[in-house]
Amino acid sequence: MVREVDLRSDTVTKPTAEMRRVMAEAVVGDDVYQEDPTINALEERVAKLLGKEAGIYVASGTMGNLAAIMAHCWTRGQEVVVGELSHILKSEQGGVAQLGGVNVSTLKNLDDGTFSLEELKEKFRPANPDIHEPSTGVVCLENTNNRCGGRVLPQSFIQQVCDISRDRGVPVHMDGARLLNAAVHSGIPPHEIVKDCASVSMCLSKGIGAPVGSVVVGSKEFIVRVRRCRKVLGGAMRQAGILAAAALVGLDSAMERLSVDHKRAKKLAHEIHNLKSDLLTVDPEVVESNMLLLNFPSPRLTSAQFVEKMAQINPGDKEKVIVRCGTWFRNRVRWVLHSDLTQEDLDLALQKIRSILV
Ligand SMILES: Cc1ncc(COP(=O)(O)O)c(C=O)c1O
Repeated sequence: MVREVDLRSDTVTKPTAEMRRVMAEAVVGDDVYQEDPTINALEERVAKLLGKEAGIYVASGTMGNLAAIMAHCWTRGQEVVVGELSHILKSEQGGVAQLGGVNVSTLKNLDDGTFSLEELKEKFRPANPDIHEPSTGVVCLENTNNRCGGRVLPQSFIQQVCDISRDRGVPVHMDGARLLNAAVHSGIPPHEIVKDCASVSMCLSKGIGAPVGSVVVGSKEFIVRVRRCRKVLGGAMRQAGILAAAALVGLDSAMERLSVDHKRAKKLAHEIHNLKSDLLTVDPEVVESNMLLLNFPSPRLTSAQFVEKMAQINPGDKEKVIVRCGTWFRNRVRWVLHSDLTQEDLDLALQKIRSILV
């Protein structure tokens, strides 16, 4: 028997027995008529958690960001300002332009997921711009920041971005795919983190462990617009309460669950760091949530070679274990911890690294 440890993403988790039970028993209705009580309960719960008036269930984080940006950029000729490493820019197929008709303006992301506030200030274009220019419709933040390795945005940074944007009459949308990870790390309640953001999209299918979906939250008026955008994107579902039921279970224990991932990620980062290898390095100081970025400073072991070796049984292996991971940009590998992993799985992954490095 070969044991598999899957560190590719926190989206690989399977619904728990409890989730499957509540899915089977969920009371449902037609959500296009807003008559699915389980969907309504989930939307209310997430809106409350994030301190907003209303919420709407969407199929994915990608759909949540797109529908929210379309709802912010309601008139033609508008622009979204995003970090150059943001998921919205890099990994959502340019949907805001492709489907939303929204122009994209980028800011250089720093290693911690932030960007220069001075650069931000230069990006704004007025609501009634020169005839040549688009107008700025929304500024986006990503917390935790995925490409930067799960970094948590400092609250002072979020505050300043919101203040600067508010002064110019522009709302801020937060891609909070992993917002609860940020809350666990900082100890700041989720509603406090996003109190000055006009909207948030939070994923349920990542560390929270639900099989499907995200919730977008904001003002009641804003969510009416998002509902319209979701419909044209083909995302209005019917008896989707069976999915919401699993998410409600995931939310019950989310904070404790995620804090386990965070502690284990930090421990693993220290253990890899303590190997003192010149082929593979990790900076434990920058591990703030459930992700680790592994660096490969030597041409003797590239990230691609590492991924290949981890995915096969090697001659020196004591145990029959394969570790699934993928290459990340800048010759790195991203490891993501999640609820389907045990401490033993992580110990085995570490042991496999040791056997590769000898
Ligand atoms: C920061 C961030 N935003 C949005 C998404 C998109 O979520 P989904 O895969 O549900 O579309 C992801 C997915 O990994 C993400 O990491």
